[in-house]
Amino acid sequence: MRLLPLALSFVLAACAAKAPPPKPGAEPHVGDEWFVWRADTLGITVDEARERDAKLPDGTDGTVPPDGTLDENTQMEAAILWSQECARCHGENGKPPPAAEGQVQPKAWGGMAAMGFLMGGDKMRAGVYKTIDRGKGTMAGWGDALSREQMWALVAHIESF
Ligand code: HEC
Repeated sequence: MRLLPLALSFVLAACAAKAPPPKPGAEPHVGDEWFVWRADTLGITVDEARERDAKLPDGTDGTVPPDGTLDENTQMEAAILWSQECARCHGENGKPPPAAEGQVQPKAWGGMAAMGFLMGGDKMRAGVYKTIDRGKGTMAGWGDALSREQMWALVAHIESF
């Protein structure tokens, strides 16, 4: 019987190595929580997690993060963020529900909009990043609440529609 907990902990350790699928209603890591969680998942300190994030591009010169920045955990975070924070205005699948009377209608992603990424490449990605970070028209920016890594992951999430 003493072996059972041991065997179980191996199974759990094996699961922890892979990003678990997002659970319905899972909460995103907003503000400082992100850096604490990221430090934990990467085995680095919170300060190192902040430094790492600050080195990522900020969308100004059309460069995008190096390959491998958006690991499974980050991609899952983007999916959770999208569902919890963005979907009510932009639609779960990137097709926004009709805006309320007098409100600006966000544009639909996927379909023809995917051409933008195809034609614009990294310049397009950096532009979408800047919109998320700094806001646009009636949408306030998210830069104060989200890390650069989270916002780049959101760009990738939008591109996946
Ligand atoms: C309260 C509603 C609302 C929420 C929540 C919201 N947005 Fe927006 N968003 C808008 C509106 C409205 C526009 C169009 C603004 C304009 O053109 O004046 C917009 C525009 C955008 C654009 C530019 C493309 C477009 O549709 O015009 C991007 C990219 C974007 N939002 C991403 C996000 C992301 C990522 C989140 C979640 C972190 C988010 N938004 C949350 C309302 C929202």
